[in-house]
Amino acid sequence: MTTLEPALQTKIDTVEKRLQSLLSMDTAGYAPLREAARYALDGGGKRLRPVLTLVVNEALGGQDETALDAACAMEYIHNYSLIHDDLPCMDDDDFRRGRPSLHKQYSESVAVLTGDYLLTYAFEVIAQSATLSAQQKVDASRCLAQGSGGVGMIAGQAMDLEAEGQDLSVAQLDAIHLHKTACLIAAAMELGGICAGASSEVRQELHAIGLLLGHAFQIVDDVLDDEQDAQPDNGGVNYVALLGRDESWTAAEKLLQESLAKIAKLPGNTAILADLAERLVHRTV
Ligand code: IPE
Ligand code: IPE
Ligand code: MG
Ligand code: MG
Repeated sequence: MTTLEPALQTKIDTVEKRLQSLLSMDTAGYAPLREAARYALDGGGKRLRPVLTLVVNEALGGQDETALDAACAMEYIHNYSLIHDDLPCMDDDDFRRGRPSLHKQYSESVAVLTGDYLLTYAFEVIAQSATLSAQQKVDASRCLAQGSGGVGMIAGQAMDLEAEGQDLSVAQLDAIHLHKTACLIAAAMELGGICAGASSEVRQELHAIGLLLGHAFQIVDDVLDDEQDAQPDNGGVNYVALLGRDESWTAAEKLLQESLAKIAKLPGNTAILADLAERLVHRTV
């Protein structure tokens, strides 16, 4: 265990508690939907995106409490995206995080609606945050919407489905990865900057670093899927199919080094951020 690990674990614990308490606070929300949302969230995800938001916020001088609700909104959106991604009309995956996926545990219609609920509630959480200013709420909403919407993750999901069964070039696969995965990770980092009151220059730089890291993260995801013999998406075309394992690792490592060079130039204390960046590329799960 490195000395930085307890700091990251504390952030994960803080996020876990708030994800639950924010759902409990939605007392007017329709109970069966909240229960299904709880099932999705209980599955033990890595909480990478909200922790990135908190770590960036702290590096730039912010308190966890200020950014916590925005970080949870980000994780709700991520979980909605996974619920819909697993549906029969999308990737048709029966399992998620080692348990039945939401449509298997409940039903397809409940899975669609639970995803809708989490997406919508994310924006309500931002609007109701007691710690963000009105301007920060506007900026955070735009950041989340762009990262997850038609110029970001949703575009990537559409591109991913269109590409099924086709021979893709590395450039085409890069474009899919950037949209479906990197845009939301970039938004998670920018969100940390918004919560810490960073300048627009720093926010842009955070976004650029997030795209590099998110791209590396998805390449590693392809490698890990390949190592675990998981059914590859895109009709069998993924990074490993195109480049092989060694070259895929090399590509991910290059993106990591580019991001670390940029992180070193950020203002603030970026040691934990650099550590987290390494962990999300040098991972085994
Ligand atoms: C899975 O994301 C989907 C991708 C974008 C690769 P994560 O690997 O962050 O999923 P959890 O939240 O830890 O389960
Ligand atoms: C999921 O990508 C990305 C989003 C939900 C936006 P994948 O379909 O490649 O990820 P897994 O393998 O289901 O986690
Ligand atoms: Mg998919
Ligand atoms: Mg999938």
